[in-house]
Amino acid sequence: MSIQLETQHLTGFIAPEEFESAAPQVKLAHELLHNGAGAGNDFIGWVNLPTDYDKEEFARIKAAAERVKKNTDVFVVIGIGGSYLGARAAIEFLKSNNYNTLKKDTPDIYFIGNSISSTALAEVLEMCEGKDVSINMISKSGTTTEPAIAFRVLRELLVKKYGKDGARERIFCTTDKGKGTLKHLADEEGYETFVVPDDVGGRYSVLTAVGLLPIAVAGADIDALMAGAAKAQKTYNNPDLKTNPCYQYAAARNMLYRKGKAIEILVSYEPCFALMNEWWKQLFGESEGKNNKGLFPASVVFSTDLHSMGQYIQQGRRTMFETTVLFDKPKKEIIIGNDPQNVDGLNFLEGKSMAYINEKAFEGTVLAHTDGGVPNVVVRVPDFSEDSLGQLIYFFEKACAVSGYMMGVNPFDQPGVESYKKNMFALLGKPGYEEQKDALEARLKK
Ligand code: PA5
Repeated sequence: MSIQLETQHLTGFIAPEEFESAAPQVKLAHELLHNGAGAGNDFIGWVNLPTDYDKEEFARIKAAAERVKKNTDVFVVIGIGGSYLGARAAIEFLKSNNYNTLKKDTPDIYFIGNSISSTALAEVLEMCEGKDVSINMISKSGTTTEPAIAFRVLRELLVKKYGKDGARERIFCTTDKGKGTLKHLADEEGYETFVVPDDVGGRYSVLTAVGLLPIAVAGADIDALMAGAAKAQKTYNNPDLKTNPCYQYAAARNMLYRKGKAIEILVSYEPCFALMNEWWKQLFGESEGKNNKGLFPASVVFSTDLHSMGQYIQQGRRTMFETTVLFDKPKKEIIIGNDPQNVDGLNFLEGKSMAYINEKAFEGTVLAHTDGGVPNVVVRVPDFSEDSLGQLIYFFEKACAVSGYMMGVNPFDQPGVESYKKNMFALLGKPGYEEQKDALEARLKK
């Protein structure tokens, strides 16, 4: 079972001959990526990652996850951006957006270090009270401020609770193989480390230890996840636009962008997809948003957001298109029963599944939105299994890379992310930033 792309709701927005004319460009982008001749070519390790990964480390990840499952009530995952979103998105997708409150035999998992909110950190500390805790600190660079602060606080908690030796058994660090403050600290303290490969950027790293350890702790099958991604690696290794749905998606979004659609909205009808939306937004936003170019990635969960954003999408500025992710099979099904009194007037739905009703909600919405001038492309996914998620992750990663090359940007760098950091460091008085401090403070004065 594989992912299908449905393009019929692009009729009237993209002509078939336009699609054909995009084929040479797609082929060129494919070649740039596969020959390693494009911009950012030192960050394309993710292309072959589903089949070419460190098997010894993979076994260590599974072993560490088993130990954590046995001795831990609360697993705290510390990281931000690409060192955060993928793991959380996968756990919510595979398990539940209510994972922590489910009845389960795996630890609760909290994500922290993804903001500088003292309230958020203090709340997680409260969740740890009276519980057995383990932590996974994730930072490729090993120097990112947000997770570094949270790690300092959580490490202190663990050392207080278990002593230095006990804490060592419960602290896992995922970082660069040889350099950076975190790697140095982990080696000094004897923490078990996992590697973020040099040639895999943060937003493409969910299928490395960055995502795999937390996902395995949640009880998901990471072998099946990698197998799904490997299937996608094979399927989408095909330069022919006509037969490659991943490239059809990349081409469609580029054509719509050129026609003035500045915003792409990722739509799902499943609340457990909300964090996947966030992962996707980082993937596409950081990859394409540069050189004054790029689609702005937005997201909604329907039918929830039809009651909030639906109005704008139907009748606001006509600058957007939707990419809808649908699932053939829900995780759990509910069939509508009979009410002899029919007081709520819902007996016309008797015997129908909620999945069927959800599909009708999609059909009604897609027709209304295309009538309203919002093109729609549909990504149809078989189910919520690890295999499907592996395919979907790779589908979006590859589409993003090819799309970025088609747009004429380097899809693997993120120079803009540094600007706020420099200002923040200067304002905090970090050594080395003295000169900027005065100038910035003057600008902040009223
Ligand atoms: O995609 C990216 O590169 C960023 O979002 C990073 O993942 C994020 O800034 C965290 O970086 P690091 O893993 O070095 O702490």
